[in-house]
Amino acid sequence: MSNILEIKNLTKKFGDFTAVEDVNFSVKDGGFFSILGSSGCGKSTLLRIIAGFEPETEGEVIIRGESMKGVPPEKRPVNIVFQHLALFPMMNVRENVAFGLKRLKLSNTEIDSRVNEMLSRVGLEGYEKKDVTALSGGQKQRVAIARSLVMKPSILLLDEPLGALDRKLREHMKVELKLLQREIGTTFIYITHDQSEALVMSDEIAVMHEGRFEQIDTPRNLYKNPKTAFVAGFVGDSNRFELSRTEGDTLITNKGWSINKKSSMAEPKVLYIRPEALIINPSEGLTDVETFGITIKTILFDGSNTKLATTVTGTTEELLISLPQNAEFDGLSEGQTLQVGVHINDLKCY
Ligand SMILES: Nc1ncnc2c1ncn2[C@@H]1O[C@H](COP(=O)(O)OP(=O)(O)OP(=O)(O)O)[C@@H](O)[C@H]1O
Ligand SMILES: [Mg+2]
Repeated sequence: MSNILEIKNLTKKFGDFTAVEDVNFSVKDGGFFSILGSSGCGKSTLLRIIAGFEPETEGEVIIRGESMKGVPPEKRPVNIVFQHLALFPMMNVRENVAFGLKRLKLSNTEIDSRVNEMLSRVGLEGYEKKDVTALSGGQKQRVAIARSLVMKPSILLLDEPLGALDRKLREHMKVELKLLQREIGTTFIYITHDQSEALVMSDEIAVMHEGRFEQIDTPRNLYKNPKTAFVAGFVGDSNRFELSRTEGDTLITNKGWSINKKSSMAEPKVLYIRPEALIINPSEGLTDVETFGITIKTILFDGSNTKLATTVTGTTEELLISLPQNAEFDGLSEGQTLQVGVHINDLKCY
């Protein structure tokens, strides 16, 4: 597969402030690429530059091998679904979806067939005549996406399209969106600050922080092998420990916990351990597994996501431990002490 989009050394300055700093990436044709970062890190600015609404300060946007320098938004083969949907409230579903096609002065027959096809793709057949104000959040969302996709863009840019929906609907829509993308094969560039959305939907994710890309990787690699402390802390849950010093192979945390790790780093500053990396009552003789004692402070029941809040014995370090699926935790109680283990590869130092 060839690259449909290449971003080269892209920088955007607003006066002295650098909103996007030397960003580089490429996206394969038909891919689902997400940009994940917290509020204000520059995500929308980057998307607006790709769409042509904002000129770059330096660098280049290349679509299908062609530089977009000086190409206005309406001439770019991209379409954007905005952070706030901006449907036309005085128009019904059909009119909203047909809006862009009418401006292309296509025949009514062609407009009808494209609108109908798109509405059925997003599961809204029969809704043509409904007022958009009478739709649910998820249905409005689908109208907004249909309105963009009906223009057959090479690339669809989506700026936090699920941001306004409640949690349950977001969970549902993120699965639908991924299935829709797979079915139609349009390249999606998806912006979000929700790591679960990015992990579930994407082929590749760029983690953005203060205008820069920290890491571009598959969801799995991002989760398993974060390259920077920021990514380790931002993607997924982690226990974080400040390190005061190392002695030989031993890491010593600020709150007095010593744990062995054959760290390749000279002076790591911080240690991350995922809650699910901790093994309760590890069997003896496991290689490269460090074991230590903990005391249960409380059990945080959350269905399949239940965790133990603990302290590491002999220290004031707090440690969150995920219980394995189907774990028998009837026997666990507050104040109880247990042995836990962690594989040294799951000790991430930065
Ligand atoms: N036109 C502008 N003039 C000056 N500063 C701007 C302008 N547009 C954006 N910024 C600044 O650039 C930074 C990045 O803004 P941007 O909208 O790209 O963030 P974002 O990552 O999309 O955030 P959010 O998740 O809240 O939407 C912010 O600090 C913002 O204040
Ligand atoms: Mg934004």
